[in-house]
Amino acid sequence: MPKPKPDTTALPCHIAIIMDGNGRWAKQRGKPRLMGHRAGVESVQDIVRAVRELGIGVLTLYAFSTENWKRPPLEVQALMGLLKTFLESELSTMVHNDVSLRCLGQTDRIPPEVRAVMERVTRETASNSGLILNLALSYGGRSEITQAVQAIARKCADGVLSPEAIDQAVIEQHLYTAGLPDPDLLIRTGGETRLSNFLLWQASYAELYFTEILWPDFRKQDLLTAILEFQQRQRRFGKTGEQAEQTPEHCS
Ligand code: FPP
Repeated sequence: MPKPKPDTTALPCHIAIIMDGNGRWAKQRGKPRLMGHRAGVESVQDIVRAVRELGIGVLTLYAFSTENWKRPPLEVQALMGLLKTFLESELSTMVHNDVSLRCLGQTDRIPPEVRAVMERVTRETASNSGLILNLALSYGGRSEITQAVQAIARKCADGVLSPEAIDQAVIEQHLYTAGLPDPDLLIRTGGETRLSNFLLWQASYAELYFTEILWPDFRKQDLLTAILEFQQRQRRFGKTGEQAEQTPEHCS
C-alpha cells in the first residue's frame, strides 16, 4: 500500500530539529562516536533536500549546543571538522538549490578556520530565497535571550529605546531568528523528550514531535511521517477548539 502523503497546502512554514542519537547509533554498531556523527551528516543532506523539495521556507538544525563544549576535546574537534567539510562541500549544492545559510549562536567561540568557512558560505548564499537553512552552532536558548536583553538594555541606557516600548516584537527583533517565522513543528530524534535549551522563546507554540529513531537513521520518509502527524493536530493558539476549527492555522 502506498504511504500516505502530507497535504502540501498545509505544510509547516518552519521546521526545527534536535538531531540526537549519533553516539548511540555508533555504539550499537561497535564503532566510535565520530562514525555516528559522520552518518548523521548524510541525514542532514537528505533532510535539507527533502525540506527544499517540499517548499518549506525555514529549517533550523541544532548542530552544536553551548553545553556541547563540555564534550571531550577530541569529539568537539571532530564535530568542528565535520562541520567545516560539510559547509565546503555543500556550498555549490546550496547555491544550485537556492538555499541560504545562516548560523545562529555564539559564533565567536567557533574555531577561526571553521568560522571563516561559515562566513563565506553565509555571504555567498545570502541572496538565495528558496530555503533558509539555520544551523544552530554553539547555540543556547537562554544565552540567546540573555544577549537580547543586554542589547535592549544598552539601547535603553543610551536613550534610544524607552522601557515602555519593549514588547514581544522588540524582543524578537533581538533574537538570532529576527525576521523569521517561529517554528511550527519541532522534531527531536533519539528518544529523549526534552528541549535541551533549543529555541526556548521561538518554540512557544511549536508542535513537538518526539521519535525513537536515531538521527543517522532519520530520513525523508520519517520527516513526512512527522509532518503527517503535525497535520492531524489542532493548533489552537489559546483559542477554543471551535474557534480554531473556524479559522485553522498551520503556521504561527
Ligand atoms: C547529538 O547526538 C548530536 C550532536 C551533538 C551533533 C549533531 C551533529 C551532526 C548531526 C553532524 C554534523 C552536523 C552538520 C550540520 C554537518 P549525540 O552525540 O548526543 O548522541 P547520543 O545521545 O546517542 O550520545
